[in-house]
Amino acid sequence: MRINAHRLHESLRQLARIGATPGGGVTRLALSSEDRSARDLLRRWMEEASLRVRVDDFGNITGRRAGSESGKAVLMASHIDTVRRGGCYDGAYGVLAALEVMRTLNDAGVTTRRPLELVNWTNEEGVRFEPAMLASGAVAGRFTPEYVYGRTDRDGVTFGDELERIGYKGDRDNRPGPVAAYLELHVEQGPVLEDAGIPVGVVDGIVGITWSEITIEGRADHAGPSPMPLRRDALVAAARLIAGVDDIARAIEGAVGTVGRITAEPNVINTIPGKVTMSVDLRHPDSATLDRLVAGLERLASDIAALTGVTVAVNRFWTSEPTPFAAEIVDAVETAAAEMGISTRRFWSGAGHDAKYMQDVAPSAMIFARSINGLSHCEQEYSTPEDLEAGANVLLRAALGLAGIEGERTSHKRG
Ligand code: GLV
Ligand code: MN
Ligand code: MN
Repeated sequence: MRINAHRLHESLRQLARIGATPGGGVTRLALSSEDRSARDLLRRWMEEASLRVRVDDFGNITGRRAGSESGKAVLMASHIDTVRRGGCYDGAYGVLAALEVMRTLNDAGVTTRRPLELVNWTNEEGVRFEPAMLASGAVAGRFTPEYVYGRTDRDGVTFGDELERIGYKGDRDNRPGPVAAYLELHVEQGPVLEDAGIPVGVVDGIVGITWSEITIEGRADHAGPSPMPLRRDALVAAARLIAGVDDIARAIEGAVGTVGRITAEPNVINTIPGKVTMSVDLRHPDSATLDRLVAGLERLASDIAALTGVTVAVNRFWTSEPTPFAAEIVDAVETAAAEMGISTRRFWSGAGHDAKYMQDVAPSAMIFARSINGLSHCEQEYSTPEDLEAGANVLLRAALGLAGIEGERTSHKRG
């Protein structure tokens, strides 16, 4: 059995129109009107594939395909929210490939033994509502509903209000699962597979990630009559901190550090910036090293405060611990690829994924498809149709292996 590559690409193309950017990418922030339109389309496609669709209290959308047995399902999931000016594949690929698996099984008239569920997670990216993987984290019990609903975007709008506004606040009873095993297919977003000349990756685990909010308070003042020695310029302090974060990450093997978001106030040409808020994203596969990176950030902050006369507050508000996936599911993915004659490489993911939190709930693993030039979270993100097809076929095979097949060519029942 093979997925229908043409149908998968056509669905990817159609979904990518919603929130399309002039540069060939997508902006479809979580719980925006674009996200609502994309959800509406996805829900229609899920219903057309005879999935029983339900929406939970965090807006996660689950489509269930009944198995010959009731009980725990094999989940295939990802997300259709995007970063600002992101690519067409991050998240959407995993969701639409899972849909394609369902469609393929329908075409073949195959009933699996375990039920299959397709899940679209809300707010995976954490760009609009920080932190990332908010809704899968909540389902895994890492965040309370109150915490989730109270998260605000940069305009002060809450997750809860936006979830209701777009009409996707469902019931707690509609959460995904119970889960027998969890599979997430995604584009690699890095250079490993391309360097190795291999189409598909088998993911051993996800690195640790920690996000901090930095608040720098200096003193706003006129840009003209203020002599340099008397200034307390928050943005100059921020510049030192940004360069320092880069140094800290470069000094530790396997570490990465990024300041991706910054706001200076009042942000006008002739006023010394009085206040800066910015983010720091630090990642490493080892928990203790991640803590060391944050300790380095805190030292840097106090050194800069002492040197420049500003105050620098570091609030480490989210940590996603390094997470190895379940060996039996990783092996099942590797076996599925081998059975399909697709060569693979095993490695860790440097990006966060909902699979991280689902590993708390059930044995989980991920499949990667090669990214061209290793690019992602940008409009240039691209994977070839052939590699996307290979990854989706591995998902199909792995899901069938984990769910089992009941009887050949029986007609699929709604369930
Ligand atoms: C999600 O894309 C992340 O790794 O931040
Ligand atoms: Mn993603
Ligand atoms: Mn992403």
